[in-house]
Amino acid sequence: MAEVIIVKDEAEAGAIYGRCVADLIKAKPDAVLGLATGSSPLAAYRALAGIVEAESIDVSQVRGFALDEYLGLPLTHPESYHATIHRTVVEPLGLDPAKVHVPGDILEGAPLSDGERIAGAGPAYDAAIEAAGGIDVQILGIGTDGHVGFNEPGSSLASGTRVKTLTEQTRIDNARFFDDDLAQVPTHCITQGIGTILKARHLVLLAFGAGKAEAVAETVEGGVSAFCPASALQLHPHATIIVDEAAASRL
Ligand code: GLP
Repeated sequence: MAEVIIVKDEAEAGAIYGRCVADLIKAKPDAVLGLATGSSPLAAYRALAGIVEAESIDVSQVRGFALDEYLGLPLTHPESYHATIHRTVVEPLGLDPAKVHVPGDILEGAPLSDGERIAGAGPAYDAAIEAAGGIDVQILGIGTDGHVGFNEPGSSLASGTRVKTLTEQTRIDNARFFDDDLAQVPTHCITQGIGTILKARHLVLLAFGAGKAEAVAETVEGGVSAFCPASALQLHPHATIIVDEAAASRL
């Protein structure tokens, strides 16, 4: 059963994450952080950066693994998750960019027809996480349909990192980042699997706003089901779900 914390706003949620991760880094300077894109984690990264600066915490050894990435965009594209993670986390926190990995990095330039390279990328990413000793704290957002990373409803709860086709709905939702032009939105992605995510030692899921209320209720109080991939958090021994009142309104 996940612990649910209801907060006033994103800043209060961010402060909880920031304190937790700052203390982790003090105790374990080469901590392994699981990172996510999306708007939900932004206040958390800002809070962590503030604490790191105020308390002069050495982050030079911190390592990071991102959740997911589009396929078919150059890493330098501003909407690639590689660029987003570097802009929103690596730079503001002052992390060593060489220690932060995004799952699409090893596939840059790979055509979707390169089956062998595509099939090998997921297991290679999971092996890299394992070689690092596993993820200490994984931050997560949630899609309105209960997806985490790019694990859409129907994803196996035991899945590892793998290449997937994006659903039409997710492409439509994300067209806002691509001049509202669906044709520019990638058709494929690579995402940590639900099984990969469940291996992290601590999961912190953040959700804000009434639009997430249904997904949060399904995650916390629904049955564990592939129809709501985030419901897999119920299987995890240390999952913290931090929501504002609007996102908690269906609980
Ligand atoms: C995308 C990402 C997810 C993210 C979700 C919600 O689909 N792949 O990792 O959690 O969007 O984004 P937001 O936090 O902006 O609501």
